[in-house]
Amino acid sequence: MNYRSKLRHSVAYIQEKLGKTQPGTVGIVTGSGLGGMAQALRDEKSLEYADIPGFPVSTVKGHAGRLVSGTAQEKPALVLEGRCHLYEGFPAEDTAFGIRVLHELGVRTVVLTNAAGALNPVFETGAPMLIRDHINFTGQTPLCGPNHEDWGPRFPDMSTVYDRELAALAEAKALELGLRLERGTYIQVPGPCLETPAETRMYRMLGADAIGMSTVMEAIAAHHMGMRILGLSCLTNRNLPDCMEPVSHESVLARAEQSSAAMTQLMLAVLKEFA
Ligand code: HPA
Repeated sequence: MNYRSKLRHSVAYIQEKLGKTQPGTVGIVTGSGLGGMAQALRDEKSLEYADIPGFPVSTVKGHAGRLVSGTAQEKPALVLEGRCHLYEGFPAEDTAFGIRVLHELGVRTVVLTNAAGALNPVFETGAPMLIRDHINFTGQTPLCGPNHEDWGPRFPDMSTVYDRELAALAEAKALELGLRLERGTYIQVPGPCLETPAETRMYRMLGADAIGMSTVMEAIAAHHMGMRILGLSCLTNRNLPDCMEPVSHESVLARAEQSSAAMTQLMLAVLKEFA
């Protein structure tokens, strides 16, 4: 089955089980250990990715693998709890599958979240970072292959991937809530290896403030289709090239879980106000 047919099957199944998506529904993708947002939804219904025909299923610990539909702050929301990654062996287009499903369901605004290592030495771990821009360091893109003109152009402009209004709203809400919010550039690397000190130094020199193994593929696909994007990283560890500390997946998950409440609080505050 080709990619578009797989998408159609997924979308048809979701619509059959969850009904029609309400206009203005917001999509939210929650990364490692950040599933708290799905728990904050009311009147929720969920589907396991494994039960959705054609939907790629992550094998990584800390990624639930569920689509949850409900309301947050009276606004309809669809949460993709967990995602698949390049390092699991998924092609780039599959790592953007969930975002394209959301688009086909009618979602036009997405909040992309992830767990990331802080490269900027003044960043505090545990704080969220507003993604203002990104660097695709994977050598791959979900837009390879024939272009789907009904989604977007062959050569999409990338001058403003992350929506400025949503970013300003997140900054204002963080201030109101007294939450520390870092801001900067996120770089996606293929993984699964964490970085050596020399690589860390290089990524910092390239201009990145936070590093992780997801999100950019989704942001590219979402932006290609004209969706508005708010990007938030949870800074789970600090990568300083001259005093590197070992990073384990378990410590990343534990830190993300600890910080999940602040991210959820911020997302709910943003959702409450955005049009
Ligand atoms: N590097 C890459 N990916 C990550 C990190 C990191 O330090 N922390 C969480 N995801």
